[in-house]
Amino acid sequence: MSDQNEAVNGYLQIVATVREYVEEQIQLGFAELIEPEEESEFAQLDIEQVRDEAMGCERCELHQGRNTVVFGVGSEEADLMFVGEAPGAEEDAQGVPFVGRAGQLLTRIIEAMEMKREDVYIANVIKCRPPGNRNPKPIEIESCEPFLLRQIELIKPKVICALGTFAAQTLLGTKQSISSLRGRFHDYHGCKLMATYHPAYLLRNPNGKRDVWEDMQKVMAELNS
Ligand code: URA
Ligand code: URA
Repeated sequence: MSDQNEAVNGYLQIVATVREYVEEQIQLGFAELIEPEEESEFAQLDIEQVRDEAMGCERCELHQGRNTVVFGVGSEEADLMFVGEAPGAEEDAQGVPFVGRAGQLLTRIIEAMEMKREDVYIANVIKCRPPGNRNPKPIEIESCEPFLLRQIELIKPKVICALGTFAAQTLLGTKQSISSLRGRFHDYHGCKLMATYHPAYLLRNPNGKRDVWEDMQKVMAELNS
């Protein structure tokens, strides 16, 4: 037998062994071994149940310093969802995302898009305020992300708008700069994701508003398509 035939025979033997194993598993009722279901952690929960879960969350150290969990606000039927970084002092006090100075600018951006805050959904990657507004740690992102993932699964927005470096890099799993990520749609679990500058950045750099407005016009065109 040639080396090649030997290799082919070896391969066929492996295929036969795997097939036998899989068929046995099906007969035993382990059909999911063939098509593993990637279920999110809160896949069984509706939005109120996820909110309840978040409100009592003590998965990371951020629960120690928070006043309130800032879960998210807006329409659960929203076509557009904004995702920011984490609550600041004002958000932590009120339990509502984007109500401080940056939030008021976001509200004006939404109104310029001829929508109201109630028409969209607004949330953050991190639901509790990091002390002194420090950057969230990887373990905090990992602990908190299942809440956002389930919010997105339930709301099923047509477009997600990631606000600023942190949200864009976290959702897209990249270290690319916000200036290279913004301005075009990315795929996020089958959903269109636009990255743009954070409104807090715009407060310090008003020149960025033109870029953000361009990005929002692309979002509007996508929502109307
Ligand atoms: N900045 C954010 O990223 N989120 C808020 O909710 C407020 C400010
Ligand atoms: N730097 C940031 O952190 N966010 C922005 O949106 C822009 C620059």
